[in-house]
Amino acid sequence: MPDIRTHAANLYQKSLSEKKFFEIESSGQTAYLNMLLLTAARNRVFIETILRQFIRRPVPRKNIFAFYALLLGSTELLFMNTPPHAAINGWVEAVKKQCDKFLGGMVNAVLRRISENRSDLLQQPRRFFPAEFLKILRQDYTPEQIAAMEQACFSEPPLAVSVKEAPEIWAQKLNGQPLSNNTLTIPAAGPVPSLPGYKEGAWWVQDFAASLGVTALVPCPGQKILDLCAAPGGKTAQLLNARAAVTALDCSQERLQTLRQNLTRLQFPLPEIICADAREWLQSAPKESFDAVLLDAPCSATGIFRRHPEILAFKTLNDVRRQTELQQQILTAAAPVIKHGGTLIYCVCSIAKDEGEKQITRFLKAHPEFCISPLTEREINSFHDGRLSSLLTAEGFIRTLPSMLPEFGGVDSFFIARLQKA
Ligand SMILES: C[S@@+](CC[C@H](N)C(=O)[O-])C[C@H]1O[C@@H](n2cnc3c(N)ncnc32)[C@H](O)[C@@H]1O
Repeated sequence: MPDIRTHAANLYQKSLSEKKFFEIESSGQTAYLNMLLLTAARNRVFIETILRQFIRRPVPRKNIFAFYALLLGSTELLFMNTPPHAAINGWVEAVKKQCDKFLGGMVNAVLRRISENRSDLLQQPRRFFPAEFLKILRQDYTPEQIAAMEQACFSEPPLAVSVKEAPEIWAQKLNGQPLSNNTLTIPAAGPVPSLPGYKEGAWWVQDFAASLGVTALVPCPGQKILDLCAAPGGKTAQLLNARAAVTALDCSQERLQTLRQNLTRLQFPLPEIICADAREWLQSAPKESFDAVLLDAPCSATGIFRRHPEILAFKTLNDVRRQTELQQQILTAAAPVIKHGGTLIYCVCSIAKDEGEKQITRFLKAHPEFCISPLTEREINSFHDGRLSSLLTAEGFIRTLPSMLPEFGGVDSFFIARLQKA
């Protein structure tokens, strides 16, 4: 097993080369690794600007480990409480082992200067979004909106959970704040499995914005609902909590296994579970057989950069384009299985309007049998106090942005549309 810092650098490198979320295994060091990697990803653009002030030439590709040592070492020195000598020595030793003595010396010199100039460096302007990600945002948002999102994203968001019932009681037990419906936000929560109610299955982790798709559906007991793209089951759990008759479909066997585990922990009876490509399965499914379809579509995941800042480094407009096509195919295939008068909920955790607002506009043009069923504040807010009005668009869609609901630590970016079949 490599030392903890080498391990952290390898995890960072793996996430970027495979274009995946950080995969941090459970161990005694999970909290440190989480803090180090997520803080580095959140501040990467800022740290790279600082590093350019101290290094004349970029680190060569074949010694990329030294780059990660500089990024993660700077993170420890600027944003974490690691004693400077421990951070610098730890990274220098790791670089000497993984690269060579010369690069170890370079990392030593740069990290020392960062440590000496810490307070001045922290006064420099901080940017959050890298250039490629800004291209996605600039397609749909004004500079003011982008600046507001940027400011909302520098600090770690609170944990958000959906509780089965009694949100006020669980808010007390978990030191949380009830947001609306059954969502609580919990600042500085600590390791999730050790929190009260986790083992008994009283709640599950889910951002407030993610929960709104099912809120918009208003599920009833016995209602026949097809949960398309269901794994790992956050929304399936909400549907089962409302005692709907659920069919949960996903194309990933592995993710469906996680769905089973999650629903079992939550003590819900397992619904009908189907492993298939939604497009193929829907071709042979009986027409007009569901009261409602919830399509939480595969998407670029560009709306969840608050909780997964690592994606900022590898998501591009190409990801948006690729997913848009797949979403359109699943939407088209889903239309016939909904009963007349039935509901289609379409949601994506993408910030790009091509996957959200524009996707639905195109769908409605091609499917005149569907119309928008506009969402209202009263329907999505159990407190009926107007706090969620900014989440609704003029058309009656939901579009959340990280800069919204700052009093609750912000929300992920989701798009949700409710359509009705004539
Ligand atoms: C946004 S996630 C769903 C999250 C889930 N609804 C929840 O609330 O926990 C999208 C899911 O779509 C699945 N998926 C991707 N392409 C698919 C396809 N062609 N058919 C069915 N499922 C697909 C992925 O495996 C992934 O689990």
